[in-house]
Amino acid sequence: MRGLFVTFEGIEGSGKSTQSRLLLRGLHDEGREAVLAREPGGTAIGERVRDVLLDPRHTGMAARAELLLYLAARAQLVAEVIVPALDSGKIVVCDRYGDASVAYQGGGRGLGTELVREMNRVATGGLSPDLTVLLDLPVDEGLARTRARNPGRPDRLEAEPLEFHERVRRAYLDIAEAEPARFLVLDSRGPSEELTRRILETVRARLPR
Ligand code: TMP
Repeated sequence: MRGLFVTFEGIEGSGKSTQSRLLLRGLHDEGREAVLAREPGGTAIGERVRDVLLDPRHTGMAARAELLLYLAARAQLVAEVIVPALDSGKIVVCDRYGDASVAYQGGGRGLGTELVREMNRVATGGLSPDLTVLLDLPVDEGLARTRARNPGRPDRLEAEPLEFHERVRRAYLDIAEAEPARFLVLDSRGPSEELTRRILETVRARLPR
């Protein structure tokens, strides 16, 4: 038995956490078994790694150390949550996954997308999503949304300059273009209900019969 693995990706302020929760609710309303996880985090170990990663005091973190910490949290989440849930036939919805490392560390930090893809394979044992929803919007609008939600308290990544987030957005769009069968790319500025409807419809179409 194998469930379905759905991930959400996007720059800061893209609304993916909201949409992943709405998808989960929609699936539950239809009586389907689905679980929600988030990255970095989603396990007790991963949440501690998340605190280290996002702490704005950790200004001197080396790009490779950052990548390895994201991968450590991911490896734990795959082993503890994702694989067991998929094996029992559940739908797993994950708020960020491997593409985030390709976009943020590979693109944003400039570590290169090939290195990060290879490291992702090591961390996840090669587990790739069946469907990835990329919520796209211009960087300045995303960052403005984040600031409005969390005034004066940006985390370590949110505090990066505009150019960093531009590189992340570009990398996400490149990944999606290279793998059109896996991606659903939506303009996240559209009405929330319409986004939820399209995402649910796409997930339903991918469910094993
Ligand atoms: P969040 O905003 O989805 O909670 O994610 C936390 C931050 O971590 C966000 O700025 C994106 C960043 N991130 C990476 O840089 N690399 C990764 O692999 C993941 C999963 C997140």
